[in-house]
Amino acid sequence: MRQKIVAGNWKMNNDLEAGKKLALEVLEKATGEEKAQIVLGTPYIHLTTVATSVAGKKGIQIAAQNCSDKASGAYTGEISASMIKSTGANYVILGHSERREYFYESAALLASKVDIALSNDLIPIFCCGEPLEIREAGTMYDYVKQQLTESLFHLSADDFAKITIAYEPIWAIGTGKTASSEQAQEMHAELRAHLASKFGKAAAEACPILYGGSCKPDNAQELFSQPDVDGGLIGGASLKADDFLAIVNAF
Ligand code: G3P
Repeated sequence: MRQKIVAGNWKMNNDLEAGKKLALEVLEKATGEEKAQIVLGTPYIHLTTVATSVAGKKGIQIAAQNCSDKASGAYTGEISASMIKSTGANYVILGHSERREYFYESAALLASKVDIALSNDLIPIFCCGEPLEIREAGTMYDYVKQQLTESLFHLSADDFAKITIAYEPIWAIGTGKTASSEQAQEMHAELRAHLASKFGKAAAEACPILYGGSCKPDNAQELFSQPDVDGGLIGGASLKADDFLAIVNAF
């Protein structure tokens, strides 16, 4: 059975104190018996403190929200995958639509980031998803499959086995307008079939595909009940411990 994962993406929210407080609240309230792996995707400044706090706590892992495509050197302001790994984080969110749009991250750049994350033993949570005009034009399956082809299809089968995917329709992010469970299921099934065409059925069946985009305590259960929806990547609702854990417990 595929691993279930609920990952919070705090985005650029919470200063040091607020971040510590939120992480501690999640830690205190999580029982360790949750059915889904919990991942806290924090800004870089929190990685060390949060990773130290969760060390040894069953079922909770830490993610960065980005990493450099370079290993080290004169790249002012960048953070490398090895630096992230050294904090105790085990995941990195890559290819979020906000990074593609506001920071011009291309498919080729993301392929390099996936490679460097994997070579530093970080699990990429690779994001994909279509804008509203593509959904309205009805070409969303080809659009999102292409995102996977361009940034993941160079991987070996062994490396692909370490990937988690997050489907986040851009029109549903932060808008309060979630994809219906049918829309999420249809896309996830399409993506899984696409992955199977390259990496084989067994590998595709083993790959967790998370849904993101206005996932909340009141719609999580319906979304997570779909056979190809293996959890969520949660933005706004991950900033409140109770809401976040309610989503985790929707499994
Ligand atoms: O990465 C999570 C995300 O973009 C969804 O954000 O606020 O719609 O849950 P939100």
